[in-house]
Amino acid sequence: MPPPEAHQPQQKIAMPGVKSVVAVASGKGGVGKSTVATNLALALHMLGRRVGLLDADIYGPSIPIMMGVKETFDANTTPFPLTRHGLKLMSMGFLVKPETAMIWRGPMVHKYLTAFLAQIDWGVLDYLVIDLPPGTGDAQLTLTQTAPLSGAVIVTTPQEVSLIDARKGLEMFNQVRVPVLGIIENMSFFVGADGKRYEPFGRGGGIKLAKEAGVPFLGEIPIDPRVAECGDGGDPIVHKYPDTDVAKTYLNLANVVIQQVVRMTDATEELPTLQL
Ligand SMILES: Nc1ncnc2c1ncn2[C@@H]1O[C@H](COP(=O)(O)OP(=O)(O)OP(=O)(O)O)[C@@H](O)[C@H]1O
Ligand SMILES: [Mg+2]
Repeated sequence: MPPPEAHQPQQKIAMPGVKSVVAVASGKGGVGKSTVATNLALALHMLGRRVGLLDADIYGPSIPIMMGVKETFDANTTPFPLTRHGLKLMSMGFLVKPETAMIWRGPMVHKYLTAFLAQIDWGVLDYLVIDLPPGTGDAQLTLTQTAPLSGAVIVTTPQEVSLIDARKGLEMFNQVRVPVLGIIENMSFFVGADGKRYEPFGRGGGIKLAKEAGVPFLGEIPIDPRVAECGDGGDPIVHKYPDTDVAKTYLNLANVVIQQVVRMTDATEELPTLQL
């Protein structure tokens, strides 16, 4: 039986100025993809890389709020990408208010995503981080097939419902032959006022999934209310509170992602030394 049409290889868009393109994905919604994409992009920037952040969630863009962009812009007169906190940014939410319900069908989504990749002058970047919408539908397939992805990072939370959907995400990348750089487990634990570690969503799900899929486990990110507060306030935790454990975790993750990209693609780069 021939593979479904959606899995046929398509022409990849050339982005000659962009060294590595990393997608941040998950099967399930709400696990923290946008938060991870944003903070990871900022951590890469803090390690001295030139970084862009593309919000591929056409129906529910989060990057404008997380990066503190409140206004919308005229597509004909605004030179995109925007720049905030040192990152180059593009999001559908810059063109229409994020709360505007999008009722476009697949082809429209495809059109915008390819325009965001091909028509925007991203300039020279070491990393373009792409925040994918949840699930494994049209938008995800368009991107995974047309963006020149170096690899994907899968975000999950420890509980089984999230892991089931993360497996679907892994499968999608396998089918389109995009290497999975590894799995990040978000909301793994928090440290209580008594100094003890609490794991409200269970333990070890991300590692288990990584082992099962034969991909690296990149690390766990703690729960911290400041993550949400900073995301809502437009100044992500890595930028606003760089001394927190969460921010340090992101810097480590950024280092690991750099190493993985180098290992899994033909990218070459000098690895940074981390000052913690
Ligand atoms: N480690 C964390 N600690 C505390 N809150 C977090 C953490 N990670 C994410 N959050 C919060 O969880 C909520 C969901 O995160 P986010 O929007 O990044 O998820 P998502 O996977 O992108 O969702 P969607 O599937 O809707 O795109 C946000 O309010 C975010 O601030
Ligand atoms: Mg999101």
